[in-house]
Order: sequence, then structure tokens, then C-alpha cells
Amino acid sequence: MVEIAHFGVEAWLNKWEKSATYDISQSTIASLSMHDLLNLDGNNGKEFYEMLDKQQMNYGWIEGSPEFKEEVAKLYHHVDPENILQTNGATGANILALYALINPGDHVIAEYPSYQQLYDIPKSLGADVDYWHIHEEDDWYPRIDDLKAMVKPNTKMICLNNANNPTGTVLDKEFLEQVVEIAKSVDAYVLVDEVYLPLDHPEKFAQIIDLYDKGISTNSLSKTYSVPGARIGWTATNAEVADVFRKFRDYTMICGGVFNDQLATYVLRHRDQVLARNRKLVLGNLAVYKDWIDHEDRASVIMPQAVSTSFPKLDVPVDIHTFCENLLHDEGVLLVPGDAFDTPGHVRLGYCAPEATLKEGLKRLSKYMHQYD
Ligand SMILES: Cc1ncc(COP(=O)(O)O)c(C=O)c1O
Repeated sequence: MVEIAHFGVEAWLNKWEKSATYDISQSTIASLSMHDLLNLDGNNGKEFYEMLDKQQMNYGWIEGSPEFKEEVAKLYHHVDPENILQTNGATGANILALYALINPGDHVIAEYPSYQQLYDIPKSLGADVDYWHIHEEDDWYPRIDDLKAMVKPNTKMICLNNANNPTGTVLDKEFLEQVVEIAKSVDAYVLVDEVYLPLDHPEKFAQIIDLYDKGISTNSLSKTYSVPGARIGWTATNAEVADVFRKFRDYTMICGGVFNDQLATYVLRHRDQVLARNRKLVLGNLAVYKDWIDHEDRASVIMPQAVSTSFPKLDVPVDIHTFCENLLHDEGVLLVPGDAFDTPGHVRLGYCAPEATLKEGLKRLSKYMHQYD
């Protein structure tokens, strides 16, 4: 039997997210309804639904439609649409990359904590995984010297989450270039889950496939684009890696589904509008959040950089898991306890809920923490 740890954050959310009244735990920027989406066109989705009406519900395009691949390729500097493969979310993209490339005994270095797939899947595949720890005192930035000390001749892959879930830390281009130099020295892949795009300066964000031939960029419509319901993600790689992925992909998913592909393509074609909406929401909510933190002596945080996840520390004299369960039960407010990221004392706070939810959620959280005054 394959051994794998419970997926902390997903297990917590699966259990509690439908019970929340004030959900400030999520990492998606307040999701869009079909109505919101199809009105981006100003014609109530008429064309979209007409297209769908005629659509045969066969398997559709196995790797994603040519239109989808073309839209995704535009997000990178020089990726051939041919080398974009559609997946079932970024979750599917990460598992594809890890399943296809990691063998028992391979050495893998993974940023820790980050999205749990990036270390627990390689472990389950029999890899020898070293954690590249991040520390609050470094503003959650990994230390490049730690990577230099950890890398080995048999390091097969370095796994990063940029921006990081849960901390919201963005790794800049100069830092990633240093990672690439180290990876090159041992011919390792660098897998970067890039679902969180910093919306204050998206043009400065460096994607790994634009920096390194053995870089693997994974992404999806779930976070930055507010459409997790489409369940569409992708990998962006060089041609050789895409071919390896094709082989494994046939065993695990066949395709993303005709409807999902059309919706994903539509969202990407309206990318500028979706990002403008989300930029406004993220920056507005960030100001609300900052104001709250500045006045809340029982919470402190390394501010995230205009991405939708954050990892504040709460000053409460009870274990964080119990605190979060009681907070939900008594106040209807949902957070993710830090033990889901092996970092108790902290919580994941997703401040990109609708603004009214954020404000009420923070107000109730404050009230609940101050019972301990
Ligand atoms: C870093 C990261 N990658 C992937 C996912 C899952 O994305 P998707 O919905 O595209 O599968 C999440 C969701 O929380 C995430 O935080």
C-alpha cells in the first residue's frame, strides 16, 4: 500500500468549509459566478451558451483545445502552445509532474511549509525529501545558503510554491535565478507551483519556465482567476518534459472535459478584466486587513504581497486547532489552523473573501481572542 500523510489543509477545509458563515480561510480570490463571468462580454453569455449548445459531449481535445493552449502560452515569454498540457487543476499538474519524474531513491528538496503535495507526494513515491525551511524572522523567505548546503549530486527536483501558500511570500527573479544556478549544477528540475500571482505588480513576477529549460511551471484558474469550479490547470515545460508527461497523463486523466475547457478558454480570453476585478478586490481587502492588524494586539503578520493568502500569528492561550474549532462553532468564522501546515500558533487567513465577510470575520475574530484579556 502506498503511504501518504493526510493533506492537512484540504482535510480541514473538507470537514468545515460548508459550516462557515464568515469564511476567511480560503485562498481563492472571491470566486466568480457564471453570471459574473459571462457578463464580462456584456451579452449575458449568449455566444458562450450557443457554442455550448452545439457542442458534442465527447472527450473533446485530449490535451486541451488549441485555443486553450494558445491562451495559456501567452502567459509565458517563450513556451510553445504544444508544450502546454491541460490538467485537473494545479493539483493535477503537480501530481503529473511528480508522478512522471520522481523515482524511489531520488533526492528532492521542497520548500517547507508550502503546499503539501510538493513534499508528501515525492515522499509517497519513495523519494528522499529534504525540507527547505522558511522562517518568520526572514519574512518567510527561504535562505539560499540552505539550498546550497542541501543540494546533492542525485538531487532530482527542487519544489517551490511561488507565491507561498500559506504565507503569501513572493520569490523574486533574482532569487529564482540563484535557485536555477544551483539546480543546473546538478541537472535538477525546478517545479514551481505558481497559482498565486501578485496582483500589485504582475509584470514583475518571474515564472520558472521563462528562467530555466528544466523548469516546470504549474498553474490553474483556481486562485488568481477566481474559477476553481472549472477544475482546470496546466503544466508549462520544454518539449522533452511535455512528452514524458503525455505518457503519464494518459493513465491518470485523459482530458479536462469539454465544458471545462471552453469555460477556461473563455476566462483566459477575458484575463485582463478578471485580473482588474481581482486586483481591486485584493488591494482593497489588503488595506482592510492591514488596518485590522495595526489595531489588533493579539495578532501579528508578515504582510503578504498582494496574493490571497496570509499566515498571521495569534496570541491565544489555547492550542490553535481547538481555538479554530471553537471560533467556528461560536462565531461562525472559519480560519485554517497552522497545524495544517505544521506551524501551530499561526493560522491561514484568506483575506480575499467578499469585503463584508472579511470585515465581519475579523471583527468576530478580535472579539473571540479578547475573551482571554
Ligand atoms: C499552492 C496551491 N496549489 C494548488 C492548489 C489547488 O489548486 P487547484 O484548485 O487548481 O487544483 C492550491 C489550493 O489551495 C494551492 O494553494
